[in-house]
Amino acid sequence: MHPTTSRSVEVSQPGGKPRTHHLPVLYHQIIHALRPKSPGNYLDATIGAGGHAWGILDACSPDGHLLGLDLDPSALELAKNRLAPFKDRFILVNASYTAIKELLDKMNWVSVDGIVFDLGVSSMQLDNPDRGFSFQAGGPLDMRFNPGQDLKAADLVNQLSENELASLIWKYGEEPNSRRIARAIYSARPITSTVELAEVIMLNVRKQKTHIHPATRTFQALRIAVNQELQSIEEALPEAVSVLAPGGRLAVISFHSLEDRIVKQFFRQECRDCICPPAQPMCNCGHQATLQEIVHRPIMASEEEIKENPRARSARLRIVEKRKLA
Ligand SMILES: C[S@@+](CC[C@H](N)C(=O)[O-])C[C@H]1O[C@@H](n2cnc3c(N)ncnc32)[C@H](O)[C@@H]1O
Repeated sequence: MHPTTSRSVEVSQPGGKPRTHHLPVLYHQIIHALRPKSPGNYLDATIGAGGHAWGILDACSPDGHLLGLDLDPSALELAKNRLAPFKDRFILVNASYTAIKELLDKMNWVSVDGIVFDLGVSSMQLDNPDRGFSFQAGGPLDMRFNPGQDLKAADLVNQLSENELASLIWKYGEEPNSRRIARAIYSARPITSTVELAEVIMLNVRKQKTHIHPATRTFQALRIAVNQELQSIEEALPEAVSVLAPGGRLAVISFHSLEDRIVKQFFRQECRDCICPPAQPMCNCGHQATLQEIVHRPIMASEEEIKENPRARSARLRIVEKRKLA
């Protein structure tokens, strides 16, 4: 883990909106959900270019603090520059959100008043062909959030058996043509670039009724597998709740149904006092609700936001609040 603090940066005063940058997905909804206050401690578990963090730091001025995490050091550089006006009120750490508890302990933060997760890949990562996330531009089959990690998408594509590839594409991409695609990949190996992989898929998949590119689901599956995204979310959510102060809020934006299902089921379980199977006549689980729902249905982007940023179309925001002790 490599902490990056803003402490040495000299910049102009904060205030006003970050005009030179695009707003991140569901920006206003996140700030509204977290209700940042001064003083207060906040955690941005996926800081990216720091768009949501900017809004949180602005709203918890003058004495609120923010810890921002990202697996990608280049995202932290962007965030550091963007958040520079907030001087010593933020700390950035190159770490996974699966280590929340350990990181807060190191900083002597007992709890936080709000947490945001904006899951998945950022536009900067997607738009950089060298990162290999997109089939729109030629690049290496990489897809790592953390460039220091060993496993790349090319390793999976070129080393898994045909059956393993098929089940990965089915499990993480929900791709109905997973077997056919796996067979095509297997026969075309070695495949080293994004466009090569996209072409192999296009040549072998029947035209689908949806408007999505035939390679979309396979690319999603590989990205999820390379970065162990679903396991990370499953691990991180209970830790996030454990460090949340009573009355503090947790907001999660997900971009596909696999992520959203994990978030929904976890929130649903933590909002209930009993999690015994419905057929069981008497409760013996001893479970107590730790959370309460703030919105019953996920919040989606407006048509206006989607027009400006088509990626917002699949965003779903769920918000919960940590219960106060009785
Ligand atoms: C959608 S972007 C976040 C954008 C950000 N909210 C903003 O306002 O610019 C998601 C970020 O999460 C990071 N990320 C993905 N998995 C992570 C993990 N396990 N721990 C920490 N960061 C992660 C990615 O590298 C990426 O920069």
